[in-house]
Amino acid sequence: MNGYAELHGRAQAAASSAYAPYSGFRVGAVVVADDGRVFSGCNVENAAYGSGICAEGNAISTAAAAGVRKIDTVVIACLDAGECYPCGNCRQLMREFSVDTVVVQDGDGSLRHHAFAEILPHSFGPDSLSSKKD
Ligand code: THU
Repeated sequence: MNGYAELHGRAQAAASSAYAPYSGFRVGAVVVADDGRVFSGCNVENAAYGSGICAEGNAISTAAAAGVRKIDTVVIACLDAGECYPCGNCRQLMREFSVDTVVVQDGDGSLRHHAFAEILPHSFGPDSLSSKKD
């Protein structure tokens, strides 16, 4: 099992590839799948602002495309701010793949880890629908 500090370093490395010419806010995310595989992503902005992709969504989508359906941990790094918590949409993306733990930087050089229910309490998810197949 990778330590959170090492995973955060990998998220920082991903953030260094961020395409963020509009916000100047570079974010990286690492996800650890239940089988131990690790995927990373960065934010990718767009001239049509609403078409931008968050780092977490990028990493989660990359994992899903590799067949992952259960994510244990998401670790987030930002190069341009101290504290950096995931946006609401990314919290919902995490919910789909049953994330257990979210790790964020606190701005003072330490990492905070949160149980997912703290990040998105009373959430709406796959179990809320009767139509989900698998
Ligand atoms: N951003 C992320 O990638 N993840 C977050 O959790 C918060 C925000 C990105 C989106 C946009 O490219 C930039 O940061 C500013 O909002």
